[in-house]
Amino acid sequence: MTQDQPHTGSPQVGEPSRPHRRGRILSGHRPTGRLHLGHLVGALSSWVDLQDDHECFYTIVDWHALTTHYADTSDLQQNILEVATDWLAAGLDPERSTLFVQSNVPEHAELHLLLSMLVPVPWLERVPSYKEQQQQLTDRDLTTYGFLGYPVLQAADIVLYDATLVPVGEDQLPHIELTREIVRRFNHLYGPTLVEPKGCTTDVARLPGTDGRKMSKSYGNAIALADPPEEIRPKVLQMLTDPARKRRTDPGNPDICPVFAFHKVFSNADEIAHVDRECRVAGIGCVDCKKILLANLEQRLAPHAERRAQLARDPDSVRDILREGARRAREVAQETMQRVRKALHLI
Ligand code: TRP
Ligand code: SF4
Repeated sequence: MTQDQPHTGSPQVGEPSRPHRRGRILSGHRPTGRLHLGHLVGALSSWVDLQDDHECFYTIVDWHALTTHYADTSDLQQNILEVATDWLAAGLDPERSTLFVQSNVPEHAELHLLLSMLVPVPWLERVPSYKEQQQQLTDRDLTTYGFLGYPVLQAADIVLYDATLVPVGEDQLPHIELTREIVRRFNHLYGPTLVEPKGCTTDVARLPGTDGRKMSKSYGNAIALADPPEEIRPKVLQMLTDPARKRRTDPGNPDICPVFAFHKVFSNADEIAHVDRECRVAGIGCVDCKKILLANLEQRLAPHAERRAQLARDPDSVRDILREGARRAREVAQETMQRVRKALHLI
């Protein structure tokens, strides 16, 4: 089955009650705990926008977390809840999109198993993140069967929903490419059954951490979406700037300054032009430059913080949304599994 021929039974693209549907989206996020600004300007804000004209499935992939964090799962439930709370606060809308936890839809495991029968191990060993992560995460044993199968599980996540488009960070594109190869192999062996998805990148706006490295909780350089203004303020004021600009009278180079990278995302065109110009001639000091940014950042994050605080007071409402999401996701996943089992003569 190609993406031009939706099988009968699934919601039809362009059905009258949903005139703007341009296809099915699926994307996933590991239960990392509280999300930060990097997540917002990368994936999350485009996920929010995609809801306007696509049918979206967004899943918190707790089984994927186990592939690297199997030895200590004590934070798992809390981290799932934190991600879901940030999602809702950022504007993922459970009325329009299906938000769910991967392990609440056991069909992901069944399809992962069936796909694993036809995926050659060298395909998995070739995935760049496989060796990279093994080298980077030296504090744990990643020679496991489950970790090798990470992209097979990801492929199952995607094809269970006949997703046509998968918005991801650039580092994930090899996984989407592999998903396409798995789909082609499956359809070649058992006849047209699965939809071949396309990947698209969401991390167009690059936001460094406060120290100029990639923003990451583990580097301690992240600004969390849930940070209150009194925590954001010192983080911004202590941000790394152009290291050559030691005195107020030294001219700076905004192109290498993380503060300027933030301005490009959070400030308006006039402010960006002003900083760009005045920094180079020492017309503006770094503290003033950071204060402009701070005001914009606080303004952008205030509504998020407010919605988040509201949701955090009622975690059961978040859990209810995830439960209802899983119920809806399961209906679609079960239908796909019927097709898959038929294709494999399992029924
Ligand atoms: N591997 C993805 C990441 O680390 C998360 C993920 C799991 C995912 N399943 C997915 C992303 C399906 C897109 C589609 O970011
Ligand atoms: Fe960076 Fe702004 Fe200082 Fe220039 S003035 S170095 S852009 S903080």
